[in-house]
Amino acid sequence: MVVLKSAAELETMREAGRIVALTLRAVSGQAKAGVSLLELDDLARAMLAEHGAKSSFLDYLPSFAPIPYPGVLCLSVNDQIVHGIPDRRRLADGDLLSIDFGAHIDGYHGDSAVTVGIGEIDEAAQRLAGTCAEALAAGIAAARPGARLGDISFAVEQVCRGAGYGMPAGYGGHGIGTAMHEDPHVPNTGRAGRGLTLRPGLVLAIEPMVIESGSNRSRVLADGWTVSTVDGSRAAHTEHSVAITEDGPVILTTT
Ligand code: MF3
Ligand code: CO
Repeated sequence: MVVLKSAAELETMREAGRIVALTLRAVSGQAKAGVSLLELDDLARAMLAEHGAKSSFLDYLPSFAPIPYPGVLCLSVNDQIVHGIPDRRRLADGDLLSIDFGAHIDGYHGDSAVTVGIGEIDEAAQRLAGTCAEALAAGIAAARPGARLGDISFAVEQVCRGAGYGMPAGYGGHGIGTAMHEDPHVPNTGRAGRGLTLRPGLVLAIEPMVIESGSNRSRVLADGWTVSTVDGSRAAHTEHSVAITEDGPVILTTT
């Protein structure tokens, strides 16, 4: 069921989104060589406490997962695409890190992700992360009232495939509101002019993922959560929670 949000609900979601953005900024700033993924997760936990917000991820148990999610961040390094569990691994110069964070305030969620380089990253990694950010911007620009869900998917896919990258099959974005994952599923590939008509009050988390080699294949690791590429090639992931309004798309997960 697709739920439209009132102006008052969007204001609360904007608050949640602001905390998500502040946390992503702080975590990105501390994501340096030698820092462990658990240390970054601790920083995000402290930010939640400071702002009186709750994690959208901690203890989340969707039907596909064997265990409740154990962290407040998803940290996915290099060939990991999404849902990487924070552990004692220490970041190294040249790593490519997707940082995904979700928080709720008064029961309304925000969900956003960035891919950042650790220290100096090679040009190919910069292009991969840059393209993923561009795909997100294109998806957001397509999220106008009267447009269709397929217009977002098409816009995202054009940028990713246009750059020669693969896209993990089956993964995409989602509606968001009083639950982190609401209808509709937002595919990262599709045809323009098809699917749900976008209406003011609809809020979508748009989240492109790209694979450097051009492969579309992914697999879930033995931890039951981490999604990685099959061929070992690197991946990038970006996400914003976006409200469709009369005036066009409004990014909620920004400061
Ligand atoms: N942005 C990710 C998603 O929508 C966040 C997953 S959170 C987790 O899938 F708790 F499921 F890990
Ligand atoms: Co999401």
